[in-house]
Amino acid sequence: MPTDPVTNRYGAIAAEIYDIDKPYFALPDTAFHLERFQNFGRPILEPACGSGRTLVPFLQAGLDIAGFDPSEEMLARCRARCAAAGVSADLTRQRYEDFAYARRFGAILIPVGSFTLVDDVAAARAVLRRFFDHLEPGGILVVDQQGLNVLAGQGQDRRRWTAPSGDVLTCEGIRTHTDWLGQRAETTYRYERWRDGRLVESQLDVMAQRYWGLEEFRLALEAAGFTDVSVVGGYDRRRGPRTGDRVLTFEAVRPA
Ligand SMILES: C[S@@+](CC[C@H](N)C(=O)[O-])C[C@H]1O[C@@H](n2cnc3c(N)ncnc32)[C@H](O)[C@@H]1O
Repeated sequence: MPTDPVTNRYGAIAAEIYDIDKPYFALPDTAFHLERFQNFGRPILEPACGSGRTLVPFLQAGLDIAGFDPSEEMLARCRARCAAAGVSADLTRQRYEDFAYARRFGAILIPVGSFTLVDDVAAARAVLRRFFDHLEPGGILVVDQQGLNVLAGQGQDRRRWTAPSGDVLTCEGIRTHTDWLGQRAETTYRYERWRDGRLVESQLDVMAQRYWGLEEFRLALEAAGFTDVSVVGGYDRRRGPRTGDRVLTFEAVRPA
């Protein structure tokens, strides 16, 4: 489990906001990945599955998908959302850096840029090798990567939501560090819960992310043993990456 209690932890308020802010299918990635995995007859693993925004629609589509996540709050929401949808999955509390399964998967899918949360380059390379080792020969790795243009952005984020309970939830994110050499950014998020005009809970989370260049990530995949690397931009399978794309989807194969 994470050793630093606040970095990339997705605590209770963050998890609650995640589900209000990103309902199923609100982002284009779910339909894009569902189309790719239509009739995929092999087990899929979603590392960093969070609260099941991707995992639950995959289960509802009849796909065999397991997930892990280090955040107890996100996993609890995932279990509750599986139960509400009448589906069940192998869900465990693990992290990229040391996850382990006795079985192997036909695919590993990391939607929406969560791989950036491995903010150290050597650790990220080791995670790619761990992905490789957990795939069957011929298995595929699909990773959405946020572009370097996201690192170059301001990283400012200031929003509010009204929860179904009536609580007002706020989030203020400020970029607190940018390491251009390491292609790494730290953003400090202050989350608050307001009830009847009074602040009843607050929480500080630090998001540490590493962003990859297009060729750099291709080389890292190949160094981990993957072949046949292909890249799609903007969740549009008809085209390759463009300079303004905020998300690039990499697909790579563990050779048979
Ligand atoms: C942006 S959410 C993505 C959730 C889900 N994949 C989705 O598509 O909505 C990122 C998730 O990464 C998880 N996470 C953070 N650090 C992690 C780590 N070291 N290993 C695995 N997951 C991690 C967080 O707990 C959070 O649930």
